[in-house]
Amino acid sequence: MSEETPEKKTSDASLDEIVALCKRRGFIFPSSEIYGGVGATYDYGHYGVLLRNNVKNEWWRSMLTDRDDIVAIDSAIIQHPRVWEASGHLAGFSDPLVQCLGDCKRRFREDHLREAHIEAGGSPDDVLVCPVCGGELSEPREFNLMFKTHAGPVADSGNEVYLRPETAQGIFINFKNVLQFSRKSPPFGIAQIGKSFRNEITTGNFIFRTREFEQMEMEFFCPPDEAEKWHQHWMKYRMDWYTELGIRPGNLILRAHDADELSHYSAATSDIEYLYPMGFSELEGIANRGDFDLTQHAEFSGEKLEYFDQQTGERYVPHVIEPAAGVDRATLAFMVDAYWTEEVEGRQRTVLSLHPRLAPVKVAILPLVRKEGMDDLAREIYDGLKHRLGAEYDEKGAIGKRYRRQDEIGTPWCVTIDGESLSDGTVTLRDRDSLEQTRVKADELGEMLSARLAQPWQSPRH
Ligand code: GAP
Repeated sequence: MSEETPEKKTSDASLDEIVALCKRRGFIFPSSEIYGGVGATYDYGHYGVLLRNNVKNEWWRSMLTDRDDIVAIDSAIIQHPRVWEASGHLAGFSDPLVQCLGDCKRRFREDHLREAHIEAGGSPDDVLVCPVCGGELSEPREFNLMFKTHAGPVADSGNEVYLRPETAQGIFINFKNVLQFSRKSPPFGIAQIGKSFRNEITTGNFIFRTREFEQMEMEFFCPPDEAEKWHQHWMKYRMDWYTELGIRPGNLILRAHDADELSHYSAATSDIEYLYPMGFSELEGIANRGDFDLTQHAEFSGEKLEYFDQQTGERYVPHVIEPAAGVDRATLAFMVDAYWTEEVEGRQRTVLSLHPRLAPVKVAILPLVRKEGMDDLAREIYDGLKHRLGAEYDEKGAIGKRYRRQDEIGTPWCVTIDGESLSDGTVTLRDRDSLEQTRVKADELGEMLSARLAQPWQSPRH
């Protein structure tokens, strides 16, 4: 782990290459495309859904299966408006907006413009101009990022509600329920995955910053004097999660926030940054939220949100450590890290070397030709595997093209059924990364591939 930002580095894959692959192979499409698209929203196609599900399953596994100090929750997207008063979002969840007063009338985040200006060698005191047309910019205005709507048939100010901008508050407001029913006591955590919404001023970089996105958040409640220890624990635990799932360690950094970057609730935050095509950018935040949220909700709701330790007779408000990750940003990072190309026999091969547990399809079953009983045997093998592993059957087109397609969607293993298979029950097992082909018994495939999925794995790009 490094606390330093390395010199400007760029990732191997360009964003255009990733966007093109996502479209070509049905991972991600711009939303509402037949109507000309709607800014910064995306729809996930079949392989995108499978990949995202695997990312989420691996997160749940690391939170729930691998440990016994965390429980799950799934809270509502629309909550009582007072939640957002108590959390500070109504007053403070805003970005400084400036608008071009010149020709183009575009809007920008002032802090982003200033960062870019300083990075390009400018002074923080310089007056900014529009980066598109050079026009004068308006004074900055605080713009609240929450989406507002109305609950019920009448749109008046009495029934204004908000789409949640983070899943975290749904956890804090359920602290008392969980404490009562889960038989847990601090230190323990509550984990949630769900959609969040932010009316971002500037979106972009594909699925990196969108207005509708999914978060994987866990609030870990601990005795106040253990907060620092648990903050350290969670930073390491989360970094390890990414590297164990194949991200190359050199493409990740842990960066502590400066005092002026901290959110209104945070005593200390470190971001896990990934080397996206546009440079190192936030993938996940790991914050020490102190007792801010429980204290605020106790004050606004009138409920006691504290823990009473029957053994010591002590009563206290737990402190909270929060690893907060984005499903979409994690999905993008896994794809960027896995993407590579090579020349094989004069033709380009594009490969997504995803960790086998993340791969949308684990094994593709391919009859060499669609005749002589090879297709029947291939179907039989597929039927035997499909409930055990994510399997796909494909009999259409030349075998080389079918291999290329599986390489691009990240399928770690292809099984080919040929003439020999009909006589001796063996098949060819092809490895996505090394292209090695071995002859194995068809009826041993299930055992063999399940065992490989459970083993530690390292990216061939290390
Ligand atoms: N509860 C704390 C919280 O929400 P955050 O840093 O604002 O913290 C956590 O968000 C994570 O959610 C980010 O690290 C990022 O992965 C993801 N995220 C936030 N805003 C996003 C956006 N507009 N588009 C995609 N992902 C976003």
